Amino acid sequence: MTPALGVCYYPEHWPEEIWARDAARMVDTGLAWVRIGEFAWSRLEPEPDRFDFGWLDRAIDVLADAGLRIVLGTPSATPPRWMLKRFPDMLALDADGHPRRFGARRHYCFSHTGYRDAAARMAEQLGERYGRDSRIAAWQIDNEYGCHDTVLSYSDAARRAFRRWLKARYGTIDALNTAWGTVFWSMDYGSFDDIDLPNQTVTQPNPSHDLAFRRFSSDQVVAFNRAQVDALRARSDAELIHNYMGRVLEFDHFDLGADLDIASWDSYPIGFLSDRLEGDAAHKSAYLQQGDPDMQAFHHDLYRAVGRGRWWVMEQQPGPVNWAPYNPAPLPGMVRLWSWEAIAHGAETVSYFRWRQAPFAQEQMHAGLLTPDDRPTPAMAEARQVADDIARIGPVTQGQSPVALIFDYPSDWAWKVLPQGADFDYFRLSFAAYRACRRAGLNIDILPASTRDFTGYRLILAPGLAHAPGLDDALARSATSVLIGPRSLSVTADLTIPARRPDSAHVTARIDQVESLPPDHARSVKGGGSVRHWMETLSGADEVQIATDTGAPVLTRDGALHYLAGWPDDTLWDRLIRMLCAKQDLPVQTLPDGLRLRQAGDLQVALNYASTETHWNGITLPPAGVAAWRDGKQLL
Ligand code: GAL
Repeated sequence: MTPALGVCYYPEHWPEEIWARDAARMVDTGLAWVRIGEFAWSRLEPEPDRFDFGWLDRAIDVLADAGLRIVLGTPSATPPRWMLKRFPDMLALDADGHPRRFGARRHYCFSHTGYRDAAARMAEQLGERYGRDSRIAAWQIDNEYGCHDTVLSYSDAARRAFRRWLKARYGTIDALNTAWGTVFWSMDYGSFDDIDLPNQTVTQPNPSHDLAFRRFSSDQVVAFNRAQVDALRARSDAELIHNYMGRVLEFDHFDLGADLDIASWDSYPIGFLSDRLEGDAAHKSAYLQQGDPDMQAFHHDLYRAVGRGRWWVMEQQPGPVNWAPYNPAPLPGMVRLWSWEAIAHGAETVSYFRWRQAPFAQEQMHAGLLTPDDRPTPAMAEARQVADDIARIGPVTQGQSPVALIFDYPSDWAWKVLPQGADFDYFRLSFAAYRACRRAGLNIDILPASTRDFTGYRLILAPGLAHAPGLDDALARSATSVLIGPRSLSVTADLTIPARRPDSAHVTARIDQVESLPPDHARSVKGGGSVRHWMETLSGADEVQIATDTGAPVLTRDGALHYLAGWPDDTLWDRLIRMLCAKQDLPVQTLPDGLRLRQAGDLQVALNYASTETHWNGITLPPAGVAAWRDGKQLL
């Protein structure tokens, strides 16, 4: 399919007289889509049951008349002030029991059924009015579920719903007591009504209790979303989308995505580098104005899976954001590069956030394609250039990647609940494996742990996967190189230790002891690299492939199944990936720092994240440079 560009627009922020000029300018920039409406509840329903769709009708007329396709948002991320009068108990409560108050956004509790119904009714109203209007080509439901740490809520509504959820999951209180091991510290419960939420306990709550609460909280997000899905499906055939946010892991995106047609996510590479990525000062400084070279690609691959092949970037950073501790500007060319990284990963649409910088409120320092007084920012010309590039390249396709990385939200929750070492973080571990594959120039598919058919993959990585019944057999059947560990398949669904560790029929190595290690401690590995953060002591029959300097097994092998006993540093990850690829005759690349490749069907794309010129394969790429070839012919 030929990729398209779009932009996020807030007609309610601007005088109506300028809408037509804005729309014409969007089209002139090469933008095809415009997303509107996702925060406009207070203007759509200024008072309870008094609706004002007139301005939105006119905005849709103007935008569609200019030739733009419209994504209409449901505004449930921003319940208006009057909603609180109707439902004083709808606010989410944080773990200390404090309300998340009105005055920003996302202040609702997912378990509050009154608010959930009100949000669904608003979706019905919008569906009634615009559901059969072909100018509304897609819907965005809510906005960034989970952003601002909003999935876990410790409200009364959550407590009531949690008890019902537990009863449905465990059936009897005895079954729950057994599953959770409540005999420990006399935590036995006599009834589901005795169970509270796992906050404000004297010391750590029972991990089984805490994990159950996280599973429940994820299901609440899915249920909240589903109420709007049902409202819209009954009234519209247009596609349903949600815009997820980077490294938000508190709900299962695969579960939620199953109800939608297209996944999308909001890509803020420079904000993420400083705000939500580990990394040493040298790395953060080298990529200060480019963002991490793999963070966006990881999410592109993740959302391609969540959307079952269909995904967008709904919001693309255009310049300095306002929300990170420091907010540098992208290097010239980066907005184009980020757009191409997305397109090369299969994005159907890349939509810039936002059209014009708002002169008021929280995001007045956040750049757009235009300044508040209508002057184009550098991103405007880069968006235009991407539109020209697309015209030259035409349709972009995707093939299956040789490498699969299994990514599993409940594993993140399990290790958050029971980290054992302060920095055992599931995302960080998975991302480290992913990065090593990117450094080797490989294409990667991210797959959910429910995958059973691995046909076509040459290398499957499943680091840190806590519990995945059935996966173990499927991996063994795949007859290709598989890497699991550390901690893989080591706990039950209730976060207790299974009778056999790891809980795998196919790993013969036994884990005799596990250690977590402070960040400044490294155990050197023979042949290069080291183990950090986590180390397991293995014994048993498997063949040792890599060991520490003192002879402790780090990588063992039983047939094609490899078990990783520690947390590798980057040097060791690079060795592991190269070794496993060599076994499969899978070619790898040695790339200059900051250069990344992506094969999109017959299109080969190279992207230079470095702030200096780079040379590769006979070509020179400037900082933030993008090159693309098809059939040996260079197109970009
Ligand atoms: C996103 C959000 C937008 C806007 C943007 C600013 O997280 O969806 O509404 O706040 O960040 O970077």
